[in-house]
Amino acid sequence: MTELKLNFPDRFLWGTATAAHQVEGNNSNNDWSLFEQQPGAIWHDDRSGRACDWWQNAEQDFDLMAEMGHNTHRLSVEWSRIEPEEGAFDSRAVGRYREMLEGLRSRDIEPMVTLFHFTTPLWLAHKGGWSNPAVIGYFRRFVSHAVDQLGDLVNLWCTINEPNVYAALGYGLGEHAPGEKSLLLYSRVLGNLLQAHAAAYRVIHALRGDAQVGLVKNVQIFEPLDLTHRASGTLSRLLDYMFNTLTLSAVADGRLQIPLSPGLSAHGPLIDSVDFWGLNYYNRQRVSLSNRDGGRLSVLQPTPGAQISDFGRNGTYGEVYPAGLYRALARLKRFRKPIYITENGLPDRDDDLRPAFLLSHLAQVQRAIREGLDVRGYYHWTFTDNFEWAEGWALRFGLVALDPQTQIRTPRPSAKLYAEIASQNAITREMVAQYAPQLLQEIFPHA
Ligand code: FCB
Repeated sequence: MTELKLNFPDRFLWGTATAAHQVEGNNSNNDWSLFEQQPGAIWHDDRSGRACDWWQNAEQDFDLMAEMGHNTHRLSVEWSRIEPEEGAFDSRAVGRYREMLEGLRSRDIEPMVTLFHFTTPLWLAHKGGWSNPAVIGYFRRFVSHAVDQLGDLVNLWCTINEPNVYAALGYGLGEHAPGEKSLLLYSRVLGNLLQAHAAAYRVIHALRGDAQVGLVKNVQIFEPLDLTHRASGTLSRLLDYMFNTLTLSAVADGRLQIPLSPGLSAHGPLIDSVDFWGLNYYNRQRVSLSNRDGGRLSVLQPTPGAQISDFGRNGTYGEVYPAGLYRALARLKRFRKPIYITENGLPDRDDDLRPAFLLSHLAQVQRAIREGLDVRGYYHWTFTDNFEWAEGWALRFGLVALDPQTQIRTPRPSAKLYAEIASQNAITREMVAQYAPQLLQEIFPHA
């Protein structure tokens, strides 16, 4: 039979994801606002500045989302606005978040809210931030306040965004705030994040029994470049363990087996601490201990010949590898929980790869669903171009181009394609023929 459509399940959620500091503008009370001031910390010494001006006017983007047929949006709340001083909560900030959430709801856009997305209030940063085990109690108190105040407007909560990425970039490699470089801190912070997640899960359920609470996991595919090179294979497995397996097994078995962190071995509360998984997937890294690039050992790299997106300050951002999304989804199968793809996207200022990226990645999602996986939504990263952490404004991930000076928004062609996918709840042959004809054979092999 000729298949002309790849359908998605009824009530599938279609939207985009953002994070408070990347879009709100004028956040001046968190650790990133300090980090941004350090010369060289951000590419081209960019600043988040007004960002996408959401604190003043997120509603202009909500209007565009509604026009484009999105029925969900993932955003985060900024801890340093809600609790600007230790133990003191700002009711005006909470009021603004209520207004935003109501704004989404009134446009039939289901909000998904992340409680920690990379930014820590200064008062907490001064106490050691996420390396201090007291953070678990502080986070619990913040979550309890946020959910008490906003819970009537939110069904879908994400506790922590990408614990593995946050611990690795902020405390292991020093590329993100707070800029620490220590394997020991990486392990300790990862342990604290996961325990804070488990604590938040219980608090949210105590306040709102019917809420759906998830943890957002970034899964990256690590694979040796040369399959016969044993040391590269070993390193690849080690990276996969540290980056992916550690967090997934901690939730599966309740045991946090973190190297260098004795005492963090048994944490029952992690068992049964997710109602759903949020999966963030971007790309694959080829691992090599034998490949020299201009004399320099190049340990992580894209597959030679693969399509690559725009370059970041450390070189290529990554290869386009749609099958990796299917493989990442497969790793979550054993949990038998609903899955939302909470982020997926690429830096592509000219939008020359994004339309095909959307179609090929969504075809992989549909394949996983066809095979029985309970995937309930897809959040493209991101809606408008925004402040991309240490990459500043150079990497453009938006469906909609944004000029941060003028705040003028210009939808890219992929915004239109995504609107068509959302409104039809399907990928059709016509879409592929129009936006990425080179994929016709791959996506509709029998048509
Ligand atoms: C993810 C982050 C998100 C954004 C994308 C590109 O790791 O969660 O905030 O920076 O990468």
